[in-house]
Amino acid sequence: MGLAGCGLSDDATIRPISDFGRQTQALYETVFWWTLGIFVVVELLLVFALWRYRRRVNDPEVPEQIHGHTWLEIGWTLAPAVILLAIAIPTMSTIFRQQAPPPIDALQVTAVGHQWWWEFIYPDLGFTTANEIHVPRGRTVNLTLTSGDVIHSFWVPRLGGKRDLNPGSENTIVFTADSVGVFEGQCAEFCGTSHANMRMKLFVDEPSDFEAWANLQARPARPDSAGYQTFLASGCAACHAIDGTPAQGKVGPNLTHFGSRSTFASGLLPNEREPLAGWLRNPDSVKPGALMPDLNLSEARLSSLLRLLEGLR
Ligand code: CUA
Repeated sequence: MGLAGCGLSDDATIRPISDFGRQTQALYETVFWWTLGIFVVVELLLVFALWRYRRRVNDPEVPEQIHGHTWLEIGWTLAPAVILLAIAIPTMSTIFRQQAPPPIDALQVTAVGHQWWWEFIYPDLGFTTANEIHVPRGRTVNLTLTSGDVIHSFWVPRLGGKRDLNPGSENTIVFTADSVGVFEGQCAEFCGTSHANMRMKLFVDEPSDFEAWANLQARPARPDSAGYQTFLASGCAACHAIDGTPAQGKVGPNLTHFGSRSTFASGLLPNEREPLAGWLRNPDSVKPGALMPDLNLSEARLSSLLRLLEGLR
C-alpha cells in the first residue's frame, strides 16, 4: 500500500469516519481478501506444477498428450462464478443501502459546485456558507449535490466515495459522521484551470458545538460601517452577499460570517491578514482563472476591506 501511495496519511480512505465510508471500505476489504485468496491458490498451483512436472533425465522428447478433463473444466467454471457471486451480493446490497432515502429528521445541506469554490446552503437553518461544511457528530446528514456551472465532484476521502455535482440535476450523499475532527476535501472531477485549487474542509463537531456554530451563522452580520461603505464603493456587492445588509450578490461566496472561517479562497489559505491582503491585491495569482477581479485597491481601501472581513464573525 505504501508503494501505491495510499499509506495511512490523515486523508486515507481506508480510515473512514462515517457509515457511508465504512460500508465502502468493508466492500473493498471483501474484494481484497478474495483477490488475495485467488493469488495464493494460483501461485501455489503454478509452483507445484513447475516442480512436479519438471523435465527429468529419461523423459521422452514429447510428453504424453491429454485432451479435455471434464471435472477440471467444471471446476474452473464454477469456482469463479461462486467467487463473483460472493462479491456481487455485498456490492449490490451496499449500493442499495447507500441509495436509501434519508430519515425525515436528517440535517439538510445543499452543496453547490462553482468554478472554483464550494457553496454550502443549510435550507432549514436559514444560512449559506462557503468552502467549510460543518456537520454534527452522530446525526444523519442528507447532502444534496448540484452545480452552478460545470461538473464537479464532492470528495472528502475519509467521509466516503466521490459523487458528482451536475448542473441541472441533483445527487445525494446520506451519511452519519462518527468522529469529531477536521477533514480535508477536494474537487475530484476536472473542472477547469483551478480544479486543483478547489478544496474544502469538513468539520465534524460535537452536537453542542454544531448548534453554537449554526446559531452564529444564522445571525445577521454586523459589519464595520466604514469597511462596508468601501465594500459597496468597490463594487463587491455585485458578487457577494452580507446577510442583514442590502448586499445580496450571488456570484461569489456569501461573506456574512467570513471571519468565522478558518480558511478562504476555497480552503487554499489560512484566514489571516497577510494572505487575505495578498488575495485582495491579486486574486488571480492565488487561484488562476478566478472570477474575483483585481480591483486595483488603494492601500486605504485595502485596509478598510480587511477590517470589514475580519469583523464579519
Ligand atoms: Cu470542481 Cu474540479
